[in-house]
Amino acid sequence: MTQTNIKNPISVTFRNLLILLITGTTIVTLTQCTSPQSGDMNSGAGSTYSNGEADAMERSYLSFGDIMEMTYPFELAPLPYAPDALEPAIDTQTMNIHHGKHHQGYINKLNAALEPHAELHGMTLAELNAGWNSMPAEVQSAVRNHGGGTLNHYIFWNVMSPDPTAPSEALMNMIDRDFGSFDAMAEEFASAASTVFGSGWAWLVLDDEGKLHIRATANQDNPLSDGLTPLMGVDVWEHAYYLNYQNRRGDYLGAFLGLIDWAMVEANYTAASES
Ligand SMILES: [Fe+2]
Repeated sequence: MTQTNIKNPISVTFRNLLILLITGTTIVTLTQCTSPQSGDMNSGAGSTYSNGEADAMERSYLSFGDIMEMTYPFELAPLPYAPDALEPAIDTQTMNIHHGKHHQGYINKLNAALEPHAELHGMTLAELNAGWNSMPAEVQSAVRNHGGGTLNHYIFWNVMSPDPTAPSEALMNMIDRDFGSFDAMAEEFASAASTVFGSGWAWLVLDDEGKLHIRATANQDNPLSDGLTPLMGVDVWEHAYYLNYQNRRGDYLGAFLGLIDWAMVEANYTAASES
């Protein structure tokens, strides 16, 4: 499918992004691109996207199910785009270190912790995250921290794209229903992310009654342990942004909001609703 490259919004500051959101300018800009159908996003690894302006490249996004159903031994999947594809919002060095060192580190430590616990090897990544507190005491902390780190980063990579898309009418209706407006949802999300003390994440989550919420979690905790399904999330650990943004977390959040592939978020919603 062909999408219009709309990288310009990612260079705005967070304050400007909020102004754009409030005025609706961002919505207009995003709507100019061709949103892929959510069914395309459910095709799993191997989904192919084309960039309307840059050289065509293939990107392999993991589906929501691919991520949630992973089992031991866990492996680091390639990024679904080139490490420099999200420049200038996220710089290449940060992407390489974040993916190749930090995400790989969580996976290695999760595997090491689970290795002597054969009874846990059949559990999916989602089950590990949802149920770490009922596991043997000696493995709880490792599964909580490194299982969360493994899952959270896969969601983070997947909801960003060099070719962001706008929410579909169906998704926009759900956002309007649960937040009042897209602007209100974005502001609540940004507020949650900007006020995480120390390291953590902010999420758009789905509850078991089909309602959307914004949540923040500390460290590598995941909403699954609270019975909520993460559909979209942003990493606000300093390792996610410090090289480029230093202490300017708000600028990083503004850039992140400009990278979201809302068609992928909707695909996550669809998969979560059907599971
Ligand atoms: Fe991270």
